[in-house]
Amino acid sequence: MEMKMAVLPGDGIGPEVMDAAIRVLKNVLGRYGHEAVFEKGLIGGAAIDETGTPLPEETLEICRRSDAILLGAVGGPKWDHNPASLRPEKGLLGLRKEMGLFANLRPVKAYAPLLSASPLKREFVENVDLVIVRELTGGLYFGRPSERRGPAQHEVVDTLQYTREEIERIVDKAFQLARIRRKKLASVDKANVLESSRMWREIVEETSAKYPDVEVRNMLVDSTSMQLIANPGQFDVIVTENMFGDILSDEASMITGSLGMLPSASLRSDRFGMYEPVHGSAPDIAGQGKANPLGTVLSAAMMLRYSFGLEKEAEAIEKAVDGVLRAGYCTGDLQVPNGKIVGTDELAGRLIEKLGESEAAS
Ligand code: NAD
Ligand code: IPM
Ligand code: MN
Repeated sequence: MEMKMAVLPGDGIGPEVMDAAIRVLKNVLGRYGHEAVFEKGLIGGAAIDETGTPLPEETLEICRRSDAILLGAVGGPKWDHNPASLRPEKGLLGLRKEMGLFANLRPVKAYAPLLSASPLKREFVENVDLVIVRELTGGLYFGRPSERRGPAQHEVVDTLQYTREEIERIVDKAFQLARIRRKKLASVDKANVLESSRMWREIVEETSAKYPDVEVRNMLVDSTSMQLIANPGQFDVIVTENMFGDILSDEASMITGSLGMLPSASLRSDRFGMYEPVHGSAPDIAGQGKANPLGTVLSAAMMLRYSFGLEKEAEAIEKAVDGVLRAGYCTGDLQVPNGKIVGTDELAGRLIEKLGESEAAS
């Protein structure tokens, strides 16, 4: 089977972490004898500069003829004052919508060698293993209208809109995931204020009848953000609206020690998916070769698992990440006591070394 992947590096540290992830990916694919084709495309600010639009038709075509997309990050100060339709972020949102990627899985796992890198106390982060299931193509991000209005454009409106079907499919996805994990689902909303959340709760209740083995509870988003810090170990699967999921996942990243650690998979109901780290383009460290590539590397592992069914290969990457961290290597964003701080490329090299060691051992 020839695997076809669209590679969209984007802006800032996007190309840096992407280079590292592709090196690791090519290495593992080579070891296991897989053929892969990588096709590069422009997105975000890089696409605006080159083509005048954040999501060129050619990029969409590359994505449509691929089995999966790997994306770095988009955005940066250079484009921050552009009109709404010419912002890098618009390209990413358009791609998610166009490809129908409604289910965004953001796993948050505490790595043993990073327990002291988290600002939270060790005993609270130990054994944390949760997944945020973020609705990705509806809600506040895609509300209509979204506009300035009034005589002097004195008023502004953003709308939080969902159809029943949009909520049903994401809630169902989360129940399915909970069923094959620890069977605990927290549905997070703001039902004490928002009508959309009240409909969300009704649907959670209806769907739970199909999954009697899954224990479900409804939680408000404000208190959930507190609980994520106070006792993250209580969570297994969290399902929530687009923007709530965006915010909670950056918060939850600190359980691991750095935003740079979190991977994500954006899925629909077939095998196609887009895989990207949770972090952004990090303009403050871009171009310095010190970005943490592990979120992107782990996203590539998720791609092998979900889009290509290559479980062993995905695990090989995850084991290499664990091994490199155990050996004390990390990038500067991780406050590991006595950690050996290396750059993006060297960390990728260490991962490749680890992949070789475990092959030699097996
Ligand atoms: P950010 O995630 O880019 O950075 C937040 C902080 O985390 C920064 O201090 C950064 O240096 C650090 N950081 C993030 N990733 C890191 C990594 N891999 N290694 C080491 N440190 C890392 O968020 P921001 O600064 O608020 O946003 C910058 C730009 O990125 C904005 O234009 C925003 O719209 C965009 N953004 C894009 C995505 C995406 O493409 N998926 C996600 C979030 C933000
Ligand atoms: C993310 C990012 C994006 C989002 C931005 C860049 C549009 O923050 O993937 O988490 O808010 O979804
Ligand atoms: Mn985000």
